Formats: sequence, C-alpha cells, structure tokens
Amino acid sequence: MRAVVVGASSGLGRCIGIGLAKRGARVALMARRRDRLEGAAREAGDGALAIACDVTDEQGCRRAIDEAASALGGIDALVYAPGIGPLAHIADTDAATWRRVLDTNVVGAALVTNAAISALEESHGVAAYLSSVSASLTPPWPGLGAYAVSKAALDKLVEAWRAEHPHVGFTRVVVGDCAGGEGDGLTQFANDWDPQLAAEFHPIWAARNYMSGSLLDVEHLVGVVDGVLRAGASVAIPSVTVAPRPPAHP
Ligand SMILES: NC(=O)c1ccc[n+]([C@@H]2O[C@H](COP(=O)([O-])OP(=O)(O)OC[C@H]3O[C@@H](n4cnc5c(N)ncnc54)[C@H](OP(=O)(O)O)[C@@H]3O)[C@@H](O)[C@H]2O)c1
Repeated sequence: MRAVVVGASSGLGRCIGIGLAKRGARVALMARRRDRLEGAAREAGDGALAIACDVTDEQGCRRAIDEAASALGGIDALVYAPGIGPLAHIADTDAATWRRVLDTNVVGAALVTNAAISALEESHGVAAYLSSVSASLTPPWPGLGAYAVSKAALDKLVEAWRAEHPHVGFTRVVVGDCAGGEGDGLTQFANDWDPQLAAEFHPIWAARNYMSGSLLDVEHLVGVVDGVLRAGASVAIPSVTVAPRPPAHP
C-alpha cells in the first residue's frame, strides 16, 4: 500500500503514518513542520518520505502530492488528519479565526483530495478523513463551535467527493477522545487553549456527558484506519466510529 498521510508531524496523524509503515505500507508524511516530519519518517523507516505541505496553500498541496505520487509510484491511500480547534466563545470568534479553522479543516481537505484524485482514481484507492465524536455525533460542545461547524462541513465534503468519484473509497473516521502516542505522537490539539476558558468549559462538557471518561488507545485507531484503507474502494465504508467504550456502570 502506497499511503499519503497529511497532518503527520504530531498526534494522531503521526501515529497513523508510522503505524501504517510498521504494517508494511510505504508512506509519505506531510505537514508544515519539516523537522518533526523527518523525525516521524525516521521512526517509520523503510524509505518513508517527509514532505512539507501547508494545506492552506493550493499550489503547495499540488506540489507535495505530485512529489509523493512520483516517489511512491502512485497513491493507494490518503489520510487527512489536519485539524485545529481554537477554544473560544462563539460570540468571540472573529473572521480570521473562522477562516483559519475552515481553511485547515475543510478547504485543505478539498485541495489535498483534488491534488490526489487522479492517482486515487487510477489505483481505485481510498481516502479517509479524521472527524470527531465532539463535532459529528454529539451536539456542538460549547467553546468549540467553529470546530464543530468545520467538521460538519468536512463530513459533507466527504459525501460530495463520493458522489462524483464512485471508483474511489471515501471514509469518514469519527474519533473519540484520544491522547495520541508518546513524544511527538502526543496530541497538540489543545496546546493553545487558554486555561481559564478550558476550566470554564470542561465542567459543562462533563455535565452534558460529552466525554466518555476514557481515552482511546491510538493503536486501535491505527488498526481501524489500516483496515479501512486495505479494504479498497470495492468495499463501501462510508463512516466508521472509533471511540473508547464508556466505563460500565455497576
Ligand atoms: N485528539 C483527539 O482526541 C481527537 C479526537 C477526535 C478527532 N481528532 C482529529 O484528529 C486530527 C488530529 O488531531 P490531533 O489531536 O492529533 O492534533 P495535533 O496533534 O494538533 O495534530 C494536528 C496535525 O495537523 C497538522 N496541521 C495543522 N495545520 C496544518 C496546515 N495548515 N497544513 C498542514 N498540516 C497542518 C499539524 O502539523 P503542522 O503544525 O506541522 O503543520 C499536525 O500534524 C484532527 O483532525 C482532529 O480533529 C482528534
């Protein structure tokens, strides 16, 4: 399997990129921070590629995907992991923040898919996009409104691509709370959150039972993504949810 993983410099995308490589895939790892990508590629081993790519730059996406396709000799699998979720009251979310969130979480997914679609058509490959329980299954979490809106749009984007490209598999991967892996594999999703705002919103999320109280083992996510990609386009897997089971009540 020749796989491109975007958003592979930290967190879940990094774990998926390395995990796919460990399971025998040849991988091209993409994100903006080249130094971290190179570390991930070293860990992935077996000729893994580190290709810098900012998903908000259309030409940059095309260049990066072209480089990956020619180095790998084609693309069988695309994983889209970039996602940002600034924590803010929705009334305090300004235009620049809305644009940054939508550019990264939605428009970037469209640009990367566009750049890869001819290679995926040729291989009858699969594209998988990381969505979130907090944005796709529960009502929007207070403080993460822009994130929820963007992931809802991403969900529809996946359907829109599927509607026009029936020879490619398009899968939405809905993920529950996950800390990622060790070192750079740890999620950086909440690194920029204002602690005071986090302390304000956390009790609301808990009171509404949005958090399961457990964390997903990232290896389970990697295994599911690997299975989805290996199934190929002839198997319809429009959506999978990978989330920790809430602790059983006595
Ligand atoms: N962690 C969770 O509990 C959880 C739960 C559900 C869903 N998810 C989803 O899983 C995905 C990964 O989240 P994470 O927790 O692993 O977060 P993370 O550690 O912050 O990883 C985000 C990745 O996206 C990349 N990225 C951000 N902006 C980019 C841009 N403009 N161009 C290219 N790459 C960009 C980052 O790399 P650079 O900064 O180097 O570009 C990084 O590799 C997200 O889509 C998130 O919504 C996470």
